[in-house]
Amino acid sequence: MILEEKDLAGLKIPQHVAIIMDGNGRWAKQRHMPRTYGHAKGAKVLEQTLEDCDSLGVKYLTVYAFSTENWSRPLQEVQVIMNLFRDYLVSAVDKCMRNNVRCMVIGDRTRLSPDIIESINNLENATKDNTGITFIVAINYGGRDDLTRAVKKIAADVQAGKTGPEDITEQMISDTLDTRTIPDPDLLIRTSGEQRLSNFLMWQLAYSEFYFADVHWPDFNKDELLKAFEKFSKRERRYGNIK
Ligand code: FPP
Repeated sequence: MILEEKDLAGLKIPQHVAIIMDGNGRWAKQRHMPRTYGHAKGAKVLEQTLEDCDSLGVKYLTVYAFSTENWSRPLQEVQVIMNLFRDYLVSAVDKCMRNNVRCMVIGDRTRLSPDIIESINNLENATKDNTGITFIVAINYGGRDDLTRAVKKIAADVQAGKTGPEDITEQMISDTLDTRTIPDPDLLIRTSGEQRLSNFLMWQLAYSEFYFADVHWPDFNKDELLKAFEKFSKRERRYGNIK
């Protein structure tokens, strides 16, 4: 552990952490293994990270599991990732109930297989009254797609006379996105050294702190999480204001 208990005491814990779990493929390649081996290890690391966030007092964890662009990967890789979701979404019901975790999925579900949609609905329903950490998994999610779907909904309301163009506010847009019930992330972590947003929560990350970890996602652990929190604790968020 890099931090002693006394250091932990001064640590500012973000209420909402968002993570871009990058580098599964490169991690596997370094080990002369198929990329899908990296995704399987990544799924295990994710379970541990959820536990670590919960034990440290994080209230919301959002992870980018599959983007709207990820469909263009080789079919076999997409199928392996979808099978990981299948297994996870079913096994998560018991785990979340035991640990008081509320689980939600964001993204456009219409392109997912009917059995996956059913498992998502089941997991969300079963865990909706849990009061511990909220775990949000982004599947077939794109920031631009989220905004586009929100604009379509608002435009339909305008057309139906429920609201007028002049009534559209930032709050209304926030309230129409997939994340409408969730506060914006305080901290975004991206692994693997890349410094891009890759169409993740574009609107919601407007004022978040960004932290880039050098390790590939399968090597991410509690020490890395604490390093990110330590950096976060030292930053001062001004929201466009002056000191
Ligand atoms: C990024 O690494 C990872 C993904 C696109 C898939 C993420 C999926 C998981 C961590 C596992 C399953 C998740 C759940 C919720 C069970 P990459 O493939 O882009 O790696 P690379 O940049 O090295 O190619």
